[in-house]
Amino acid sequence: MPQWLEDAVFYEIYPQSFYDTNGDGIGDIKGIIQKLDYIRELGCNALWINPCFDSPFKDAGYDVRDYKKVAPRYGTNEDLVLLFKETHKKGVHVLLDLVPGHTSEEHAWFTESKKAEPNEYRNRYIWTDNWITWGVEGMRFIAGEAERNGSYVINFFKCQPALNFGFLNPTAPWQLPVDHPDSIATREALKDIIRFWLDRGADGFRVDMADSLVKNDDGQKSATSAVWRNIRAMLDADYPEAVLVSEWSNPPQALHAGFHADFLLDHDGRGYKTLLRDYTLDGEGRPVNDNSFFKKDANADIRRFLDNYLPWYEETKNTGFISLITGNHDTCRLGFTLTRTELALAYAVLFTLPGVPFLYYGDEIGMRYLNVKSREGGYTRTGSRTPMPWTEGKNKGFSAAPPDKLYLPVDAEEGAPSVEAQEKEPDSLLNTVKALLRLRNTEGDLRGKPNLEILHADSLPFIYRRGSLLLAVNPGGNRAAARVSLSGETIYAIGQGSLENGLCALEGQSFAVWRI
Ligand code: NOJ
Repeated sequence: MPQWLEDAVFYEIYPQSFYDTNGDGIGDIKGIIQKLDYIRELGCNALWINPCFDSPFKDAGYDVRDYKKVAPRYGTNEDLVLLFKETHKKGVHVLLDLVPGHTSEEHAWFTESKKAEPNEYRNRYIWTDNWITWGVEGMRFIAGEAERNGSYVINFFKCQPALNFGFLNPTAPWQLPVDHPDSIATREALKDIIRFWLDRGADGFRVDMADSLVKNDDGQKSATSAVWRNIRAMLDADYPEAVLVSEWSNPPQALHAGFHADFLLDHDGRGYKTLLRDYTLDGEGRPVNDNSFFKKDANADIRRFLDNYLPWYEETKNTGFISLITGNHDTCRLGFTLTRTELALAYAVLFTLPGVPFLYYGDEIGMRYLNVKSREGGYTRTGSRTPMPWTEGKNKGFSAAPPDKLYLPVDAEEGAPSVEAQEKEPDSLLNTVKALLRLRNTEGDLRGKPNLEILHADSLPFIYRRGSLLLAVNPGGNRAAARVSLSGETIYAIGQGSLENGLCALEGQSFAVWRI
């Protein structure tokens, strides 16, 4: 396990919307380089950059046309290599986004694979042996697009044909077994891409839909896991400092497959979702019945999170990390439903639990969800992908382009946040995030390591211990207290808390850390 990962706090950058240095209305790699000091001062020491490769951008770059070429709108391969150099000088590591399960329908492999004449790429994708494919369960097929007599399987959107890693227990002649030379060739092609970027200075990858490789896999995803373990063996042998973080949302499975860390995501409706986004939308897209733990007036019950998280934590704590996110390019911005104080309390807990936290760009200033038209296959996700507001000036300092040329509109409405404004305000969310990350970065006990003990979770406050530190949060509106039989000195607080005569007490909407 690379040591740097245990100490990492990630900043996720959606490159289109981060910072535009050439005035074309779209963020670029040079823009990321220019903002490295900002990221460092924030307290982050690692980056995850969403796909920045050549693409027709029908799914914001998750439809890769050329894995080895930076999309011209972001710059060149040399720019990316320069980014690796500049980040490393500042002690920052960089994960690229690896999309292993599908390519763009415009990838050269797919163009070859579509042809009627057999060639090397015939089985790089999953093709049936007849253009009539109705009635096959569990997969989605596209017919009518190729001269070849068959339909192909897609992994996500129509523009994303599934790469062929084979099938566990094939049930038709067109389903290759996982040990077929062509299934293995796909895995080797993936390793070649991984090597290409690691050789140029990348520190690893966030892996898209990591559990989606082998089709008809079993419940344990054992065949897909075997592919990843083979890839991990290559890393351990040749790139021991490289890191793989999976989009899987099942840490026991993902870490067993060889990932160093796995994200918890909303989509299974369990654990993580109950902390931050436990609401539904009404007919007009307004949130209703919000029962998220950090909502002041919700029926705060941390058990709903812990019942899912703790067994996974116990099972994985000696092999790797669980990654808690403030959000990402697929989720709704937290600023949609949480107030400034609720955000601060949520970040306080996300950044002080074990594992490796990820902060989505703009969440540090409480960027809002915008009601904008879909762009590049974003649909409702588009509102969480708008440009970073750096200043109070033109286009909020994101770009010098005319406003109608921006990738997406900036939030310029009344009350919209900006880095410039929050830097000046001592009590801003931005300064709170900086203080929280400073605390995490200076207290060894608050890093990734597995030293969590839950002391009180059946009612508020939620109290937990990490090594020599005691932490407690009370997201509700009223004072709450519980007996812990410990004493200590406060080292950080949001709101007000006390630890006296063994009683841990927090005023409403407070968080505190004590050295015990
Ligand atoms: C998950 C990514 O996070 C999402 O943005 C993308 O659309 C799908 N995978 C397909 O690659």
